[in-house]
Amino acid sequence: MIQLNKMSFTYTKQPFLENISFTVESGEIFGFLGPSGAGKSTIQKILIGMLPNYTGSVVINGIEIKKHDNRFYEQIGVDFEYPSLYKKLTARQNLDFFSSLYQGDCYSADELLDFSGFYFL
Ligand SMILES: Nc1ncnc2c1ncn2[C@@H]1O[C@H](COP(=O)(O)OP(=O)(O)OP(=O)(O)O)[C@@H](O)[C@H]1O
Ligand SMILES: [Mg+2]
Repeated sequence: MIQLNKMSFTYTKQPFLENISFTVESGEIFGFLGPSGAGKSTIQKILIGMLPNYTGSVVINGIEIKKHDNRFYEQIGVDFEYPSLYKKLTARQNLDFFSSLYQGDCYSADELLDFSGFYFL
C-alpha cells in the first residue's frame, strides 16, 4: 500500500532525509518514532503529496506521489498534526465535515459511530 524506496528530501542545501526505504502492507498498522526534528512530519507531508521535490520513489496504492492528481485525495485520509476543528465540533459534526471532503460514497456518521462503539447525540 505504501512503498518508499531510497527516498531523499531536504528543505535546504544540507542533507536531511536520506535513502529512506520502507513498505507498509494493506491492513497493516505502521508507526514511526524518532526524536523531535527527525523528520516524521516531513515524511507525512511527502506521503500526502505536499512536498513533491523528493528523490527516489514514494508509491501509494500504485501512484508515484509526485505525479498524483486530485483523485489521489479520494483514496487517503489524514489525521492532521494540529487539530483546529476537532475540539470545536461534536463527534458527529467532525465525521460529517470530513466526509464532506470526499466526492465518493462514505460511511454515514451513524454507521461510523456504531462501528466505533461510541455513542454521541
Ligand atoms: N518548511 C520548512 N523549511 C525548512 N525547514 C523545515 C521546514 N519544516 C520543517 N523544517 C525542519 O525540518 C526538521 C524536521 O522537522 P519535522 O517537523 O519533520 O520533524 P518531526 O520529526 O516531525 O519533529 P517533532 O517530533 O518535533 O514533531 C526540523 O529541523 C524543522 O525545523
Ligand atoms: Mg512532527
